[in-house]
Amino acid sequence: MIDVEKIRKDFPILKRKMQGHDLIYFDNAATTFKPQCVIDAVVHYYTELGANAHRGDYELSYLVDSEYEGTRKAVAGFIGADEKEIVFTSGASASLNQIAYGYSRFLKQGDVILSCEAEHASSILPWMRVAEEKGCIIKYIELDEEGRLSIDSLKQLLLDGKVKVVALAHVTNVLGYEAPMKEICALAHQAGAIVVMDMAQSAPHMKINVKDIDCDFAGFSAHKMCGPTGLGVMYGKYELLSEMEPYMLGGGSNARFDMCGNLLLKEAPYKYETGTPPIEAVIGFKAALQYLDQIGMDEIHAYEKELHEYAIEKLSKLDNITLYNPHADACIITFNVKDVFAQDAATFFNSQGVAVRAGHHCAKLLTQKLQTSATLRASCTFYNTKEEVDRFVDICSQASIENCLGVFF
Ligand code: ALA
Repeated sequence: MIDVEKIRKDFPILKRKMQGHDLIYFDNAATTFKPQCVIDAVVHYYTELGANAHRGDYELSYLVDSEYEGTRKAVAGFIGADEKEIVFTSGASASLNQIAYGYSRFLKQGDVILSCEAEHASSILPWMRVAEEKGCIIKYIELDEEGRLSIDSLKQLLLDGKVKVVALAHVTNVLGYEAPMKEICALAHQAGAIVVMDMAQSAPHMKINVKDIDCDFAGFSAHKMCGPTGLGVMYGKYELLSEMEPYMLGGGSNARFDMCGNLLLKEAPYKYETGTPPIEAVIGFKAALQYLDQIGMDEIHAYEKELHEYAIEKLSKLDNITLYNPHADACIITFNVKDVFAQDAATFFNSQGVAVRAGHHCAKLLTQKLQTSATLRASCTFYNTKEEVDRFVDICSQASIENCLGVFF
């Protein structure tokens, strides 16, 4: 059971006002706020450690290495992977780009890559580039009427034996639907394809075991999980990480090189970690994972589900609101105020102290399916409350074309 009032005290930013109102932050799918323990861990690095990672032979450097590798161990434990399968990157986007670039060496002309219209740009664009460079073909798994992935369509597409990669979000960032990844992995593997799982919107909200799901690669960001910005994780089965190449070369990732151009890279995961990493973010991320673990991922998931049902029940009674995903599996509510352009409505919400995202949310292929050029997205997490939902619903009920455009005059 979540004690949300106690939890809220851990987040200093939740005390702030916006436009003279108590802040209601419903943009957690974009990034989450940080609890004090994460802020303290970042400050601890700068005030007490300060040295680079994996570079020095002195006490401070050893201490940094030990904390840095401690986070790798914590991440591995958090998703059920081995430590050597965890690579630190600059974010989910960097992870997904590295996977596409690295795996492209195993692809050839005519190979098929499967994606779907609901994907975030970072999940699909790297594969579009690979397809262009290698002569591969991207095919789209159909979505059903609600926008959920059709498993029948996936099965159909896998029949031709040419599919080599299935790249999908575990939870989509606009519609908030969870894909049955374990089933998808089993089907893809039977057909000889690997599966890349974008965990950016699932890792912050549910317990995940990548070994149980059996995906081949995954990527996610620390900043959506109460951790610092500038840090992501690439998970890969060790054998694949070993066979693949990094897209960046430089210091830290090589064992040796000579003037003839001979280069020996370190073993994975280190061969992917070129240059000085965001050490303070890595150290802060361990504090974030411990914080989430202490609350409990199952408790977080259950609480967010309850909050979502509570909000949908109230919002569906409003005639001026169009809901696009009332049955979402995540607490992501995508909607529009009738007759009001999404960005204008977002400005009205801002004037009332409510932060929601407006636009296409980096999922531009989806606009055709939703038959709208832009939507509003309210995304909640475990520190949001039913009282905030009540106030949000009340503000939604006041959102008319007059009120929304009135903000500008
Ligand atoms: N990928 C983030 C989102 O969906 C930024 O909002």
